[in-house]
Amino acid sequence: MAAFWKSKSEPQPESLILPQHVGIIMDGNGRWAKKRGLPRKAGHTEGARTFRKIARYCSEIGIKYLTVYAFSTENWKRPEDEVGALMKLFDSYLKEAISDFKDDDIVVRFIGDKSSFSPELQALMIENEECSKDRDGMVLNIAMNYGSRDEIVRAVKNICSDVQNGKITEEQISEQLVSDYLYTAGQPDPDLIIRPSGEYRISNFMLWQSAYTEFVIMNKLWPDFQKSDMDEALRIYSQRNRRYGGV
Ligand code: IPE
Ligand code: IPE
Ligand code: MG
Repeated sequence: MAAFWKSKSEPQPESLILPQHVGIIMDGNGRWAKKRGLPRKAGHTEGARTFRKIARYCSEIGIKYLTVYAFSTENWKRPEDEVGALMKLFDSYLKEAISDFKDDDIVVRFIGDKSSFSPELQALMIENEECSKDRDGMVLNIAMNYGSRDEIVRAVKNICSDVQNGKITEEQISEQLVSDYLYTAGQPDPDLIIRPSGEYRISNFMLWQSAYTEFVIMNKLWPDFQKSDMDEALRIYSQRNRRYGGV
């Protein structure tokens, strides 16, 4: 049960504002393993465990949208054995997730370019999306082979072709329309992005969507991240004064 936040069936304390959409840059797996003299892939295994725990916790306390950054368009440049280990981990996660999240009401979505993954992984991603699409709980976006610049380039290309084929007119292009061509179409922008591992950068994550997002950088490495760290990030968010350029 939630240590600090109430479960979604109970009202949250009035002084606390729960973000609707939270993004997490799940970083620090490699350093976690290195500190223990383990191969980097051991850090990824532990990171996957943390992901399951935190995703379920977010759903329990009533977060409506959670986007986790699992693999970036730039992560392919890592050594072959590390990329191979990550693909194996995705495979076993995706197989387990179908039954693991069966009793949850979580809707699973993958954001990013699926086409670079093996046909088996692509099929598993689609199966996970299909079997969860009619649920009514938290939307969990798993960003895999996701890069926000790539996402924006795709959006621009699709907008151009839709103008050319007459589906839309140039005059209709607006901030809202651009948002509607992104992987996160129809979802609210993230209110809060958490980056564990102490790095102060965005690393190509939700560049368009994070125009007015609050950032919380935490010093914990992702595999060490606990529900209490989530509580802490949410508490910090709750105290922020969001002005959106106003006064
Ligand atoms: C995040 O942890 C996981 C992925 C990017 C796939 P890292 O592997 O980046 O861990 P550090 O940053 O090297 O510690
Ligand atoms: C960002 O972490 C990507 C994910 C967590 C999936 P990286 O470790 O790839 O980012 P940099 O290299 O520190 O910017
Ligand atoms: Mg990293």
